[in-house]
Amino acid sequence: RKMSKSTPPKVFITRRVPDRGPALLKSECTVTQWDSDEPISREELLSKVQGVDGLFCLLTEKIDAELLDAAGPNLKVVGTMSVGYDHVDLVACAERGVKVGFTPNVLTSAVAELTVSLLLATSRRLKEGIRAVENGSWGTWKPMWLCGPGLDGSTVGIIGMGRIGMAVARCLQPFGVARFVYSDFDEQPKARDIGAEFLPLDEVIASADFLLACCALTSETKGMFNMDLFKKMKNTAVFINTSRGGVVQQDDLYKALVSGEIAAAGLDVTTPEPLPTNSPLLKLDNCVILPHIASATHKARSAMSELTAKNILAGLKGQTIPSEITA
Ligand code: DGY
Repeated sequence: RKMSKSTPPKVFITRRVPDRGPALLKSECTVTQWDSDEPISREELLSKVQGVDGLFCLLTEKIDAELLDAAGPNLKVVGTMSVGYDHVDLVACAERGVKVGFTPNVLTSAVAELTVSLLLATSRRLKEGIRAVENGSWGTWKPMWLCGPGLDGSTVGIIGMGRIGMAVARCLQPFGVARFVYSDFDEQPKARDIGAEFLPLDEVIASADFLLACCALTSETKGMFNMDLFKKMKNTAVFINTSRGGVVQQDDLYKALVSGEIAAAGLDVTTPEPLPTNSPLLKLDNCVILPHIASATHKARSAMSELTAKNILAGLKGQTIPSEITA
């Protein structure tokens, strides 16, 4: 169906998001929005999507056959305001002729920056240090207190050398990293620019002083960071995850941190989210956990909102979607 002035297409936005996206959509569509910072319930979502032509969603909404069928045959396009799309059933979308847009590139530097922040916070033990200052256990300057591994001369292993993995490696270069090694489905030609070596997974794991998960959550990567893998890592290694909690077997990670299989972990993503406050991981000094904020810069979030709207508008008009994911 062509967009016409008389019947503007209907778009539902599942949350409060930065202005740019909604403003763009409102110029051409009838927009309704879940006006809250908290997620819409599944029940409410299933009812709100009925009859929409476009859906603006977040990673908190599961886009599956049930949801698509609740929306009905008018639905032409789903735009997720995220680069990850493990919450979207691409096959179910394709079967119904629903296009899917996502937001790569615009958040790459923000995520890389936070990955580096988390790596430094974890390796240099900032959580313990801040706590000591606040709770009075600082005492005095001590030669061997709160030491951790530095990046200078280290080997950094990256699992998933895509846009984000590459950006993280580039950010880390000036810290004096001696060697970048990575694992991926195939060699990534761009990685040669920084001299990163494409190696079998086991070799990346065994040689890394810092192991960074920068991969997408897929059936291949689900739970791949398990005890078997942690055992192959150096006991002194630091593990960082800014991809999805689902790539980690969290119970195994806990055991690996307690038993000293690895030295420390920094996570921006967990299973579930939010992580319950009684999670044993939160008791550990050698585990730093952040609340999924890697893309949380003003610029990135605003650009994500705008790109999501552009993806939806293009999908509604039957034009090429600026950033489309296909099954
Ligand atoms: C994404 O975009 O997939 C992140 O997890 C949130 O920015």
